[in-house]
Amino acid sequence: MEITNICVIGAGIMGFGIAQLGATHGYNVTLVDVNEEILKKAKSKIESNLNRFFVVKNKISQQEADNILGRISLTVNKKEAVKDVQIVIEAVFEEMTLKQQIFSELDELCDRKVILASNTSSLSITDIASKSKYQERIVGIHFFNPAPVMKLIELIKGKNTSDEILKKSKQFSESLNKTVVTVIDSPGFVTTRLIYVLCNEAVNMLMKGIASTEDIDIACKLAFNFPMGPLELSDLVGNDVYLHIGDYLSKEFGDKYQPSPRLRKMVSDSLLGRKTKKGFYNY
Ligand code: NAI
Repeated sequence: MEITNICVIGAGIMGFGIAQLGATHGYNVTLVDVNEEILKKAKSKIESNLNRFFVVKNKISQQEADNILGRISLTVNKKEAVKDVQIVIEAVFEEMTLKQQIFSELDELCDRKVILASNTSSLSITDIASKSKYQERIVGIHFFNPAPVMKLIELIKGKNTSDEILKKSKQFSESLNKTVVTVIDSPGFVTTRLIYVLCNEAVNMLMKGIASTEDIDIACKLAFNFPMGPLELSDLVGNDVYLHIGDYLSKEFGDKYQPSPRLRKMVSDSLLGRKTKKGFYNY
């Protein structure tokens, strides 16, 4: 079954980025969220991103930007959204029960051949699929932020994901001009598990007074050629997000992954990073 139509569920930062990416590569995209206001905001964000990063920089013409936008439709009705699509990409909040509920709903709404993908950044695909009837078609397609720009897709094979679905998901991901790595389902996969450990260890070092915030970040940037230090990155992603990941990984793998007490304190003090304008740095 050739993929021409995509549905993206969740029009937050990842959802609208994936919608933009898909439409840029010629797919018709239906973007779904819980209310019209969120959807309108998502579309205007896509419009301004296309303008700012592509049209103004002469990477695409205004006509091409209009065509991309024209391929994205919005709805709050999931049944309508998945009609005629060949793949659904779920990008709602990182909550297991919410994701399980959405995949159960999709059981009833989608033809059995439709690929059902989750963009979860850490949760087990096998567990997300566990309440669904047809678990063989559920797969992880983990995009990175911003989705239209980042080159990697981490493809996750759940315990019951079929080889056929994995193969088609890989072809689809490559059609978006991404490099794909395939990972067997495991909490945090490769990327989230590694980056969490680095950032959490940096917070522990800071807490113990081993070096200053700035020096820890400079050390990583210059020693490892990282574009950003771990504490800057934690502020960008959200310190609450890392705390959530740490709690999940330590529950799955044991105390080695316990979030730093300093990270927990920062979150309880609402020092979440850029989104609250205060974190390891002030913004
Ligand atoms: P977000 O909070 O920006 O957006 C989530 C959206 O889902 C919201 O607009 C919300 O209204 C919508 N939503 C919630 N329940 C819904 C429902 N029942 N039906 C339809 N829409 C619903 O979240 P973000 O950051 O876009 O993350 C989404 C997923 O992507 C999460 O699983 C996250 O772990 C993953 N992810 C996030 C990355 C990031 O850098 N933010 C990177 C890679 C993956």
